[in-house]
Order: sequence, then structure tokens, then C-alpha cells
Amino acid sequence: MSVRPAERSPADERAVAPSVPGPGRVLRGLRADGAALTLAEHLRVHGPLIDHGGHRRGEHAVVGLAEAAGLRGRGGGGFPLADKLRTVVGAAGHTRRPVVVVNAAESEPASRKDAVLLTRTPHLVLDGAALAAAAVGARDVVVWLHRGDVAGARAARAAVGERAATGVLGVRHRVVEGPPRYVAGEASAIAAHLSGGPARPRVTPPRVAQRGVHGRPTLVSNAETLAHLALVARHGPGWFRALGTPEEPGTTLVTVLGAVGVPGVVEVPVGTPLGAVLAPTGGPPPVGGAVLVGGYAGTWLPADRALPLPWSQAGLAAAGGTPGVGLVAVLPADACPVAETARLVGWLAGEGAQQCGPCLNGLPALAGACRALAAGPASDAAAAPGLLHRWAGMVEGRGACHHPDGVAGLVRSLLAAFPDEVARHAAGRPCPAAAVTATRSVLPLPPPEPGGPAWR
Ligand SMILES: Cc1cc2nc3c(=O)[nH]c(=O)nc-3n(C[C@H](O)[C@H](O)[C@H](O)COP(=O)(O)O)c2cc1C
Ligand code: SF4
Repeated sequence: MSVRPAERSPADERAVAPSVPGPGRVLRGLRADGAALTLAEHLRVHGPLIDHGGHRRGEHAVVGLAEAAGLRGRGGGGFPLADKLRTVVGAAGHTRRPVVVVNAAESEPASRKDAVLLTRTPHLVLDGAALAAAAVGARDVVVWLHRGDVAGARAARAAVGERAATGVLGVRHRVVEGPPRYVAGEASAIAAHLSGGPARPRVTPPRVAQRGVHGRPTLVSNAETLAHLALVARHGPGWFRALGTPEEPGTTLVTVLGAVGVPGVVEVPVGTPLGAVLAPTGGPPPVGGAVLVGGYAGTWLPADRALPLPWSQAGLAAAGGTPGVGLVAVLPADACPVAETARLVGWLAGEGAQQCGPCLNGLPALAGACRALAAGPASDAAAAPGLLHRWAGMVEGRGACHHPDGVAGLVRSLLAAFPDEVARHAAGRPCPAAAVTATRSVLPLPPPEPGGPAWR
């Protein structure tokens, strides 16, 4: 099975009124009609891409700015951008010119934050890419999308065309549409595809920042990370740090879906309590509900425990979670987290690249045990929790990439957050919600890809 971004309707790419003070940062000035800001409009909203002395930011200035701002990646791992820039510069030497990749794949089926940026404010993302290119001495910028993301590809190509026509370009851009697979958003899979191979992750090290596209040092940065960099360069690290927490400064985008009034993408200061993150989307979930934070390979939490937690790496770590890809799914009180997990794990297991043991054997086994727990015969359901514990431990840290770790983490969080529900299922007494979920699932999954999975 595979991600089919063509499924996305423009209505899905909705930016909810920002809950940052003022008009928002990266979501500032978006057009009400949903169209992309033109270059002229972008410059009116954000101003020109120059430093306070009127110069375009150069290599050291950008690395220093990213460092002083404390800007961390928004693509899942929260890695400091400055460190990654330095690694690329260090690996480049004088002979191997680096490449910059804007990771706009947004593999996560329900995530829309990068789609909002690319389709509504593409020049902010491209400004960030130009700055990163200046920092590492790259001439080539690749915008990486999933094939079928028609709106994203159109917006990216139109923005690149505008920059070429007005001479703002500075770098060579390519918009590349890779296979619509979950793991094809992973950095080494992207580098493999751009080097002419299948978009499958490879063993690291060397990291792509050291040896990436055709052996060249490659900066793979999430689209949102680069959009923030574009604003740090304009307004300075102090401005950036005025919101967020000292350790995790700035604002961040969060896709909110499920049992909320207005699903969509919100921009919030890092560290905002989850309850306040949900406020602009129609308020907190009903008492007794569940939330999934970080993405489909994220962490389940009981809603009442999750709502006071700060939306940050440190805040969610207290409950075993992370902001991950910036996604919160709110499960209604009448839906079953066990049955939803079984659906997600089944899908995620089918998305592995099938080249390491955990993907070939471990994930299908976890998916089978989740199915058994959710709706299996009583004997299989009774054995499932023990097997899930054991097999989760056996896949963790064993893949060439982190895909199996994410799936194991999701399973573990179900067992930890909902012991009563799990026990009821294991005892052959699933809650009535399990039957409801079987007919009305809450978390959207892409349909199977016709013709089977593609890697090129
Ligand atoms: C299975 C898998 C899928 C991923 N998919 C995406 C994706 O769709 N978009 C993304 O930005 N990062 C994705 N990542 C993370 C990237 O490998 C990389 O860390 C990220 O693009 C770096 O950006 P950042 O430093 O700006 O966060 C994925 C990682 C894994 C393990
Ligand atoms: S763990 Fe799975 S997805 Fe990751 S590299 Fe190995 S086979 Fe591919």
C-alpha cells in the first residue's frame, strides 16, 4: 500500500487561524482564497531577503544565525539545523559541491503542514533553501515531493519559474516527484533516488550530510525548517527566540485532525499546552478520549493526561512522546484505540522497504498481533499483549532506518496508555467502540496503490 497524495483535496490544506500572538509567523499573510502568495505578495508580507546591513546572508552568517536562533528541524527528529549545516560544510572540502534538498514529501498520510507551506507560501520555503545553499556552498536545490502531489508540484514549479523570471533565483532548482511511499520521505531514501536508484533507505553512516546525492554532501531539510530559517534571516535570532522555550525556540506547525470542529494546520509557539494547541480547531477532546501525538508512528496518550503537556520535545518526553512530524489526532470517545492501532500498524507494516529483518518479519508479526488483539479469536487475543511487548523489543534499533522503531513505539504506547482497553480485548471482551471503529475508522489511510508499490 502506498501514500496517494492525489487523494488530498484543496480543502484538506487548510490553515486554521494562528494561535501565535499577532498574525502568525510562517503562516503570516496567507491568501484567503487558498492560492499561493506570488513573489511580489510574498515580499510585501515578509520583506526582502537581506540582512540588517542590506546584504544577502552568506555562509557563516547563516550557520551562526541558525545556531543563535536554536532552530531545530521540524521534520521529525528535532535535530539542530546549525549542526547539520556544519556537517555538510565540513564534508564538502573543496571538491564536492553540496546539494540542498527541501523535503516536502510529507509521507505522513494525515499531515498537511508542509502542503500548506508549499501551496500557500512557497517563496518562504525557497528563501530558506537559498539561504541553506549559501551556507553550504550549494548551487543545486531539489524540492522533493511525492508523485501525485499535484498541487504541491504545481506551486513549487510556479514559484521557481517566478524567481527565474525576476532574477531572484541564485541557485538551480529542480522539482522532483519521488515514489509515493512512506519511507521515501526518509533522507537516505531521497538521496538514493536522486542518485538514480530506488527510493529505499540505506544503512547510515555515512549520513547523507556527509555522502548523499551522487556522493555529494547533501542537506536534507524539512520544508517547515527552511521556512523558519527564512524568517530568522530577516528578523534575527532574538526575534525568533521571543516565542517558544529557551531550549526549543520559535513557533511550530501542527496538523490537527479527528474529533475537532475544524481540522487543519495551526501555528503555535513551541511549548504551548496541547489543550491550547487544539483550541483554535474547536476545543479539547471529550473526557475519556485518546490522542495520538507525533504522527502515525507516534504515541498514544489519554486525552486528560495529554492536554496540559507542553507541545515540545521536552514537554511530551515526560509522557513518552515527541512532537514528531507535528501531528495530533484526536480520537472521539466512542472510537477504539486498539482497533485504530491495528489499522495503522497494518498500513505501516506494508510501507516498509522490505530489505531488513525488522521490516520483513517483525512488522508483519506486530501487525498480526495487533489484528488479533483488536478482533481476533479469543485465544489469539489473549496471547497478543505478551507477543506485542516481545516483538516490539525485537524490532527496535534493528533496521537500517527508524521506520521499525516508530511502529514499535506506537505499539508500546498503546499498551502503556490504555491498559484497561488492552486487557478487555485480551480477555475477549472488546469495548463497543471496537465494533464502531471497524465500520467507521477515524484516522485516514491511503488506499492501496494500483499495480503494487513503486520505488522509483
Ligand atoms: C520512515 C521515515 C519517513 C520520513 N518521512 C519524512 C517526510 O516525509 N518529510 C520529512 O521532512 N522528513 C521525513 N523523515 C525524516 C527525514 O529522514 C529527515 O530527517 C528530515 O527530512 C530532516 O529534516 P529536518 O532536519 O528539517 O527535520 C522521515 C524519516 C523516516 C525514518
Ligand atoms: S528498516 Fe525497513 S524501511 Fe528501514 S531500511 Fe530497513 S527495510 Fe527499509
